[in-house]
Amino acid sequence: MHRFLDLADFSRDEIGALIELARRLEQHPEPRALAGRILGLVFFNPSLRTLASFQAGMARLGGTSFVITPGQGTWQLETRLGAVMNGAAAEHVREGLPVLASYCDALGIRAFAEGKDLARDLAEMQFSAMAGVIDKPLINLESAMNHPCQSLADWKTLDDLAVPQHAKFVLSWAQHPRALPLAVPAATVHMAAMRGMEVVVLRPEGYGLPPAVMDKARAAAAASGGSVRETASRAEALAGAQVLYAKEWGSTAHYGDAEGDAGLRAGLGDWCVTPEWFDLTDAECKFMHCLPVRRNVAVADAVLDSARSVVQREAHNRMTAQMAVLYRMLSRGV
Ligand code: CP
Repeated sequence: MHRFLDLADFSRDEIGALIELARRLEQHPEPRALAGRILGLVFFNPSLRTLASFQAGMARLGGTSFVITPGQGTWQLETRLGAVMNGAAAEHVREGLPVLASYCDALGIRAFAEGKDLARDLAEMQFSAMAGVIDKPLINLESAMNHPCQSLADWKTLDDLAVPQHAKFVLSWAQHPRALPLAVPAATVHMAAMRGMEVVVLRPEGYGLPPAVMDKARAAAAASGGSVRETASRAEALAGAQVLYAKEWGSTAHYGDAEGDAGLRAGLGDWCVTPEWFDLTDAECKFMHCLPVRRNVAVADAVLDSARSVVQREAHNRMTAQMAVLYRMLSRGV
């Protein structure tokens, strides 16, 4: 494997094989598999899970890693093409990233959406420009519209819990003090569709996912025997749901307009997931969230602390799933 940028680049069988490998490495650790291999991690945005799980996973396989957070102890890196660099950034990614890649065997990059121009973010302009200057194996640690590592971990979590392939999976918008990127909802709706699930996106008016995101998910569903639809009706969405996955994201009707988004979300305080949301779901309905989560804004304590919450398992699977990716990418014997 040379690049892990999008689950859509892999077949369902290839995803299944990665999950199987993750399980094998959990049950039969290989602490020397990646001895002598080095992973570089570049974080333009903060992280807890992605940063720690990649470092821990690499160490558990016998490899090592270094972390760069541009502007924090290292030079600030300019990402804009054609920029006149008379501001804070001392170095451009076009020099900095190839230098870092030359020190390691694989590189991971986290670069969130610029959040100004939806078409530009949908086209992954910033991440693609960076990927284009790197000749080493590359992992997407979350870009404008994708978070494949989260999605692989979530798929494994669903399999671990024996959630049926065609189960009803609700991806619900949840409240947050400000607009967040579309990467996780876009990746999640595609992941669940690719797994073959009955996917319902539940969101208030003004928060519909972009047509390109829904079209990609529908194409995945068509190939897997699943389905994808969108609704603003909580009752319709939650009826019989076997999985409720909550996520906060910004208004697509006010993309790049913080004031417009704030005006819209001000009236949406009841989009905090509470135990009552599960009155209509399947009795065994699981609750998922990628974390971090704001308690009692997006999700009530009583849900996060309940037996139906599997957020800790999802977070743990970040490490196990990524170990399979690293093994495929860097193990000399594979
Ligand atoms: N879910 C996730 O990517 O977590 P971090 O932002 O903490 O890495």
